[in-house]
Amino acid sequence: MNDAERVDAVLDGVLPRVPLIEPLPAAMRYAVLGGGKRIRPRLVYAAGRLAGASLESLDAAAAAVELIHAYSLIHDDLPAMDDDDLRRGRPTVHRQFDEATAILAGDALQALAFEVVADAEVDTTTVQAWVKLLAEAAGHGGMVGGQVLDLAGENRALDQGELEALHRRKTGALIHAAVMMGGVAGHLAPDELARLGRFGAEIGLAFQIQDDFLDATTATEVLGKPQGSDARQGKSTYVSLLGIERARAHAVATYLAACGHLSAFDDRAEGLLAIARHIVERKK
Ligand code: IPE
Ligand code: IPE
Ligand code: MG
Ligand code: MG
Ligand code: MG
Repeated sequence: MNDAERVDAVLDGVLPRVPLIEPLPAAMRYAVLGGGKRIRPRLVYAAGRLAGASLESLDAAAAAVELIHAYSLIHDDLPAMDDDDLRRGRPTVHRQFDEATAILAGDALQALAFEVVADAEVDTTTVQAWVKLLAEAAGHGGMVGGQVLDLAGENRALDQGELEALHRRKTGALIHAAVMMGGVAGHLAPDELARLGRFGAEIGLAFQIQDDFLDATTATEVLGKPQGSDARQGKSTYVSLLGIERARAHAVATYLAACGHLSAFDDRAEGLLAIARHIVERKK
């Protein structure tokens, strides 16, 4: 079983099946299961391995970060935000169900993420650190704040500093948290944790630059989400700012900067380096 299959089994176990409140459980399961690259859980496991944590001790963190991510995707696709009809090769949640169900399923997934962390069979210091990392990454200083900047940036030309700040929040923060949650689980020394954090922040930025590049260059059938969504919505992206070629070069440069922060870990960094490479070389 690889790490993506492992987190799928954990997610299947924590997602509800309560007939009374259908279609909410069905919508939650639809949003989380049956698709998705599971890059954030894979980062949790890889960072945890680097830090010497057992796989079992990482399951809750891996699942929680994917639950937050899945929630963010549901809301990101809503008509009030990016207004997209396709996600992971299937109708978006508000298309498959309805808008109110999509909003509520996102809300419930966010709460479930914290429930999963609270139930984790790890020491209370780790649980506390995970809650803090996840809350900061998901909230106003992280993903949600970034989404606000993203919407405010529609049909405006943001400069590179503004765009970078936006991307670091809306996507980078949760990826940084995934890496840190793994490191914290292995009780890494503060200086090593700081290095891991710098890697997480940079690879999180590289992730969103590559996402911008793919949005402009890759067919809907490959992406599993609509090609050209950003241009249609007048989004400020690395492609709108730099053009396709320079955006791609910037993704690679940011990836290289990220990897530089792992050099002191030698062989222990292999797993993280492989995921980092996948983040900038992926075709979807
Ligand atoms: C897409 O994330 C949303 C962004 C933050 C750019 P992913 O590319 O990881 O989406 P899935 O989980 O594989 O569908
Ligand atoms: C989404 O950014 C970031 C989130 C917080 C979900 P995008 O809007 O570019 O993500 P996609 O391209 O729809 O997956
Ligand atoms: Mg968006
Ligand atoms: Mg979107
Ligand atoms: Mg995108």
